[in-house]
Amino acid sequence: MPGDRKPLISGNWKMNINHLEAIQVVQKLAYLLSSDDYVAVDVSVHPPFTDLRSVQTTIEGEKRCEVALGAQNCHWEDKGAFTGEVSPAFLAKLNCALVIVGHSERRELFGETDETVNKKVKAVFAHAMTPIMCCGETLEEREAGQTDAKVLGQVKAGLAGLKAEQVASMVIAYEPIWAIGTGKTATAEDAQAVCGAIRATVAEQFDADTAAAVRIQYGGSVKSSNAAELMGQPDIDGALVGGASLDPDEFAKLVQYRLHGG
Ligand code: PGA
Repeated sequence: MPGDRKPLISGNWKMNINHLEAIQVVQKLAYLLSSDDYVAVDVSVHPPFTDLRSVQTTIEGEKRCEVALGAQNCHWEDKGAFTGEVSPAFLAKLNCALVIVGHSERRELFGETDETVNKKVKAVFAHAMTPIMCCGETLEEREAGQTDAKVLGQVKAGLAGLKAEQVASMVIAYEPIWAIGTGKTATAEDAQAVCGAIRATVAEQFDADTAAAVRIQYGGSVKSSNAAELMGQPDIDGALVGGASLDPDEFAKLVQYRLHGG
């Protein structure tokens, strides 16, 4: 049922905020958010790997904090000779609930492919965590009219071989690359059009119930001033937020988008 999808707002800190700063950021966020917020919206933070243990203990030590812990990436193997990589098993051990997979920065700067993204999505599920699988087109692709081909191709390849119930429980983040960190947001209509096409693709690849259940986030220069309009779209079920998630005041305001109007 589309109405049953609870929005998920996720803060992707990228390579920002060290583990000492992270404790303060999370404490402030916990102070700013109330139980009403957690009823309306699911919230997650995705700190760098070196912060995870500190953030985990901070969240678990705060009385009223229901912020979920997430990671920004993982390897698809559980262990082995993979210098510099992080096992999904280790993330699960830190009580990570969510893992971002296939962010465009990973794809563009670190050579991730649809195939490795698909392996990582499966590995995240194998450790009972939830993947946030990212997709999105470049400006050139958008201008050449290839947005749907690129994005829907990434979605199909990333979901290949999954069970319908896994897809129903996961998150897909549509992030046009030209909108990330640029201050340029897709218009709510453009974002909705692609998120709607993603849902239609999931319906085709799996079934209507799965498509109705999967949560689709929009990402790309989301801030407290534009969140309400984006979140008002029928196929947008949350936001993956970079820059605006680094300041707890701004991120809390964004999570409370329903109070600030659009
Ligand atoms: P941004 O990043 O909000 O800074 O544009 C979004 C993302 O890359 O997830």
